[in-house]
Amino acid sequence: MVLGVIGAGAMGSGIAQVAAQIGWDVIMYDLSKEQLSKSEQALEQTAKKLVEKGKWDPDDASKILARVKYVDSYSPMSACGLIIEAIVENLEVKKKVFTELEAHVRPDCILASNTSSLSIASIAGALKLPARALGIHFFNPAPVMPLVEIIPSVQTAPETTARAEKWIADWKKVGVIAKDTPGFIVNRVARPFYSESIRIYEEGWASFAEIDAALKKYGRFRMGPFELMDFIGNDVNYAVTESVFHAFYFDPRYRPSFTQKRHVEAGWLGRKSGRGYYSYGSEPREDVVMGGARGEQIMRRVVLMLMNEAIDAVFWNVASPKDIDLAMKRGVNYPKGLLAWADEWGLEDVLRGLEQLQAEYGEDRYRPSPLLRKMVREGARFFPVED
Ligand code: NAI
Repeated sequence: MVLGVIGAGAMGSGIAQVAAQIGWDVIMYDLSKEQLSKSEQALEQTAKKLVEKGKWDPDDASKILARVKYVDSYSPMSACGLIIEAIVENLEVKKKVFTELEAHVRPDCILASNTSSLSIASIAGALKLPARALGIHFFNPAPVMPLVEIIPSVQTAPETTARAEKWIADWKKVGVIAKDTPGFIVNRVARPFYSESIRIYEEGWASFAEIDAALKKYGRFRMGPFELMDFIGNDVNYAVTESVFHAFYFDPRYRPSFTQKRHVEAGWLGRKSGRGYYSYGSEPREDVVMGGARGEQIMRRVVLMLMNEAIDAVFWNVASPKDIDLAMKRGVNYPKGLLAWADEWGLEDVLRGLEQLQAEYGEDRYRPSPLLRKMVREGARFFPVED
């Protein structure tokens, strides 16, 4: 099979590696010739490192490198059965690229976008054959992160989705099906990890370091929210929050925060700018110990909001409970699936916790999902009790 990749940036290059590793030929296109050669050099460097570490056999490494061709026009794309677009996150530019590309591809070629925030329906709408389009959303870095969200739009043919599912499984990735709604699964369900943590800070409960420590110690998250935002980049994380908030018609649950906005305005973007919520100078950061009831309360409030978001995603049929839990574990390394975790706490306890927050603040932000109420009424759970 031949994969076409449009856009040789961070994501496009990673996706090309994933496919070449399992034996697909890859044709990589970018508007910028400089970017194409950077991508080629980056793959060579990766191959060299993995051979040195003994993870790739030298013969396999040369085969993998030889499978990727770098081109500066769309015409070679006529050989592809699947093309994944990973260019700049701009709807008008993406639509133009899809329209132009379609003139060069076979009628049975599937056209996918790696967009994190745009609607697949709007991209597919630029095509003569929209039934062949869907979202195939990898996580960064694509060769490392197992999760791939597969997003059919209202126009996507079931056969298109079925073929994409098979290919993602062939690539040894964990595919989950998500509805074409803002943030798909991960970028929607994960919002409270950041926003509720920032709110706790804004209310003066605890410092960035204390909140991070509480979530790591009591929630067993690998990174705290502030460390993670600094790692992702506050500019990138803020842009996703704002886009999800707008796309949900300003639902208060997704409201961005002034704290993060001010950090972006100040240029405190995180690791990449040397300063975010933390400073990334030469001095090591002091470890904060977060013990006792306050740490547990902080973790509980953030996790309650995450659980509510996951439950609401089931309510709105964004994905199945199994896929939602899988997505958070394999896309963002959560220690547990949020729905299985809610079962473990007891749905009644989760509902009570959210109702207390809603009563305390009187805000719609804390409204429990209707599905949670229904399940509590019926004594239901998401997954059967394990033996
Ligand atoms: P990037 O900025 O690293 O790469 C984008 C590439 O597209 C650049 O090489 C640029 O020259 C090229 N390009 C721009 N316009 C083009 C055009 N008209 N035709 C051909 N090439 C063009 O961006 P990145 O981070 O790789 O993101 C790409 C897409 O993947 C975006 O839609 C983004 O939202 C999505 N995404 C990004 C993730 C991330 O963590 N960076 C994670 C998942 C999805």
